[in-house]
Amino acid sequence: MLIHFDQAELRYGDRVALKALTLLLGELRIGVIGLNGSGKTSFARLIAGLAKPTSGTVRLDGLDTVADEKAARAKTGFIFQNPGHQIILPIIREDVALGPKSRGLAAPEVERLVDEALTRFGISDLAGRRPHELSGGELQLAALAAVCVNRPDVVIFDEPTNQLDMKNRARVKAAIDGLGEQAVVISHDLELVADFGRVLVFHKGALAFDGAGQDAIGRYREIAGC
Ligand SMILES: Nc1ncnc2c1ncn2[C@@H]1O[C@H](COP(=O)(O)OP(=O)(O)O)[C@@H](O)[C@H]1O
Ligand SMILES: [Mg+2]
Repeated sequence: MLIHFDQAELRYGDRVALKALTLLLGELRIGVIGLNGSGKTSFARLIAGLAKPTSGTVRLDGLDTVADEKAARAKTGFIFQNPGHQIILPIIREDVALGPKSRGLAAPEVERLVDEALTRFGISDLAGRRPHELSGGELQLAALAAVCVNRPDVVIFDEPTNQLDMKNRARVKAAIDGLGEQAVVISHDLELVADFGRVLVFHKGALAFDGAGQDAIGRYREIAGC
């Protein structure tokens, strides 16, 4: 999918979260790195239509995230920094079924899609659990299943391996690496994006670097002074 920022800016009152940005992205894997408060989540929210640009436009395959809101939104899936907050139904299976049900699919088809999504991310055994009974990594995978069951063109991850232990991190990394869908991955876990062909470095609400993973990490280290 082609993500097109055209002079897109995001302000919260007087505060500029993302300065006017013009950018075209079409790669399968896009990394986003930068210090806290540099505008990464704002950038991601603009893609997903969770925030409207205060000026300029964001288009997904030509669909404007404001003018064509519904169609544009259907192209994206967003995994929040704390995925526990996006699992809204009490049982994992029900939550994953929410999207297909809301599309009006017949019950057997809903069940088939849910089984397929749970199996795909290796969490069939968690289907009957409640979100608070899941580890951080399992929550990420459950949210990923609930997002991918809707067949988005792009999946956006906001710091997916934050606070995960090594085992959970490895599971989440494997899930991201194995994803057939396009992915935008915001991360402080630099190894996650190191081999991506395209990594954006944000600094103070502006794009400070746009290039290959290793080069981007080098630039980020300069900015961070370490
Ligand atoms: N809802 C909001 N209201 C006011 N300011 C916000 C809001 N969300 C983010 N900001 C500000 O916008 C800037 C960029 O934030 P954000 O995109 O969340 O950065 P990052 O994800 O890189 O940490 C920060 O200065 C932050 O304080
Ligand atoms: Mg953030």
